[in-house]
Amino acid sequence: MGFHDVGTPHGRPTTDRQSTPDWVDFWNRPNAIYANRRNLEAHFACLQRDLDAYLPPGGTVLDFGCGDALAAEAMAERCGTLYLYDAAPAVRDRLLARFPDHPRIKVLTDADLAALPAGGIDLVLAVSVLQYIPRAEAGDVLRRWRGLLSANGRILIADVVDPRTPMLRDVASQLAMAHRNGFLMAALFGIGRLALSDYRRVRREAGFSAYTPEEMGDLLAEAGLHAAALPRNVGPTPHRRSFLARPAAQAAEEPAPNVQ
Ligand SMILES: C[S@@+](CC[C@H](N)C(=O)[O-])C[C@H]1O[C@@H](n2cnc3c(N)ncnc32)[C@H](O)[C@@H]1O
Repeated sequence: MGFHDVGTPHGRPTTDRQSTPDWVDFWNRPNAIYANRRNLEAHFACLQRDLDAYLPPGGTVLDFGCGDALAAEAMAERCGTLYLYDAAPAVRDRLLARFPDHPRIKVLTDADLAALPAGGIDLVLAVSVLQYIPRAEAGDVLRRWRGLLSANGRILIADVVDPRTPMLRDVASQLAMAHRNGFLMAALFGIGRLALSDYRRVRREAGFSAYTPEEMGDLLAEAGLHAAALPRNVGPTPHRRSFLARPAAQAAEEPAPNVQ
């Protein structure tokens, strides 16, 4: 099943966009999730550090829901080919402007993504994106990723939000990061701007797909994947979780630790 079978190409509903907010529209517009450029740079520097150990040297990586991908060049230095895909057209346009013909980085359109052949990806990265994919569609998305994997391919799903997490914990984590990286004032203003924006309405109406570790284990197993929870989350939000998954059939031949 291709991504185009998952509702619309981005997995978003085909209802009236005036009255039904969706996450792709949210990310397609300027938003206050990142306080400023310093925040974005510190965020991607952290991702680059945390992801380094998982990037297959000389391999092919699909960064799904990649956002502005400020670490793309450094990541592509390590892996052979980096495919960047983001469902928000405005994000994609920015990436295309930065990487019009990079030898190792290719920005994928929806059609490019749908046309990726089976078995060609060594690592699917999905960092901080699962929460924006409607729950009912997550299984199909995971199955599609599984079909893309090479013989030793893996899926790294990071920044999974536990539904029991109070929003204050995310706020505290953002402020701690801002303090460490010298953008505390901007972060405080950013939190104010976010509170005044339509973020909470979109979150309430479009849904925010949060999973307990047990739910993640079930979701991944239903998609034919076997996963291990990583000891620490990839990225700057330590209370969220990361999972490294591979096809269950492959795992059966070579046992690995189960999701906690
Ligand atoms: C929080 S940002 C994460 C960006 C990057 N992965 C990172 O960790 O910084 C979420 C990104 O996912 C993208 N996104 C949201 N829903 C998506 C979907 N259904 N398919 C692909 N990308 C999606 C958004 O456009 C946005 O750029």
